[in-house]
Amino acid sequence: MKAKKFVLKQQFVGFPKYSDVEIMEEELPPVTDGEFLAEAVFISIDPFIRIHPQEVGNVVMGQQVARILESKSEHYAVGNYIVGFFGWRTHTISTPQLITPDHRLPEYLIKDMDDLPLSLPLGILGMPGNTAYFGFLDICKPKEGETVVVSGAAGTVGSHVGQIAKIKGCKVIGIVGSESKGKWITEELGFNYYINYKNQNLKEELIKCAPEGIDCYFDNIGGDLSSTIISTMKRFGRISVCGFISQYNLESGFDKAPALQGYFVSNCLQMQGYSALLFVPRWHEGIAQNLKWIKEKKLKYRETIIEGFENTFQAFLDLLSGKNIGKTIVKV
Ligand SMILES: NC(=O)c1ccc[n+]([C@@H]2O[C@H](COP(=O)([O-])OP(=O)(O)OC[C@H]3O[C@@H](n4cnc5c(N)ncnc54)[C@H](OP(=O)(O)O)[C@@H]3O)[C@@H](O)[C@H]2O)c1
Repeated sequence: MKAKKFVLKQQFVGFPKYSDVEIMEEELPPVTDGEFLAEAVFISIDPFIRIHPQEVGNVVMGQQVARILESKSEHYAVGNYIVGFFGWRTHTISTPQLITPDHRLPEYLIKDMDDLPLSLPLGILGMPGNTAYFGFLDICKPKEGETVVVSGAAGTVGSHVGQIAKIKGCKVIGIVGSESKGKWITEELGFNYYINYKNQNLKEELIKCAPEGIDCYFDNIGGDLSSTIISTMKRFGRISVCGFISQYNLESGFDKAPALQGYFVSNCLQMQGYSALLFVPRWHEGIAQNLKWIKEKKLKYRETIIEGFENTFQAFLDLLSGKNIGKTIVKV
């Protein structure tokens, strides 16, 4: 059995380039006792791949939904589907990693999906879904009637957070980079307003949409846009710092924190960063709640699916340049 894999040839500097990676083939050995052979069905494309430390020569990191092709492990049977952190590769031989160390995404059998797409455990029913669920509810602690701003609002995490905010009875404003994204989040997902940061004045629009001020900010983007949003927050506002994608491709490295201390002091704001991995002990609680909301038709999702393993790197470039709506997935 031959596996194809994307190997990191050099560290990403600035916006990633095709010359940073290489597709290679690997002849896999026979499966031995305790091991399984899994075939990638869907590969998850995520922003963290751009900034997480990775070693040159290694397979590019990432999560997959994979089908068990052969098993000499009591934990998985042929035909099972699992979620695994196998990277950008078509086939993997491994032993089950059922006990998850803190720094790894959990590996598990996919169950109870009914008729839902098998790609969802990489999106709304997986890591990004739990990032939205825990990072918004545990950190922003939204209350009914409050005003919530979500940046990266048409992406996987942002579109999910805005819908949870609506479920909780909040007024929600989404920050997006195109009109079609804005229309989707307002007309289909129920956000109250969208602001297109590429062609509108963010501060003026925020004051129009939320003259009362902002109680919660779920930050996916960082940079100047986030500084502007934070400057319009109310007293005792809460900020959940999920990501800062506007800084990921800067050749100069990440910006220093813009001068926000004045707003923090005068408005008694709280800001907390987090990693989804913090919530690994409650992982299946998040999945169960998100699944329940999907079945109750309170939570919608959208996926941008790119066909073909060879197009995995292009899917990553498209995500970083905002071409996706919702979760970006490669169908292998
Ligand atoms: N803390 C955690 O554990 C954790 C876990 C998962 C994800 N995250 C973070 O959460 C954020 C969203 O992740 P995701 O998977 O849901 O990705 P995503 O939102 O589906 O896709 C990324 C989106 O970011 C927007 N974007 C790109 N460059 C931008 C810029 N310079 N300024 C403003 N927006 C920009 C683009 O939308 P527009 O067209 O609207 O610009 C793009 O579609 C990322 O920052 C990611 O690193 C954190």
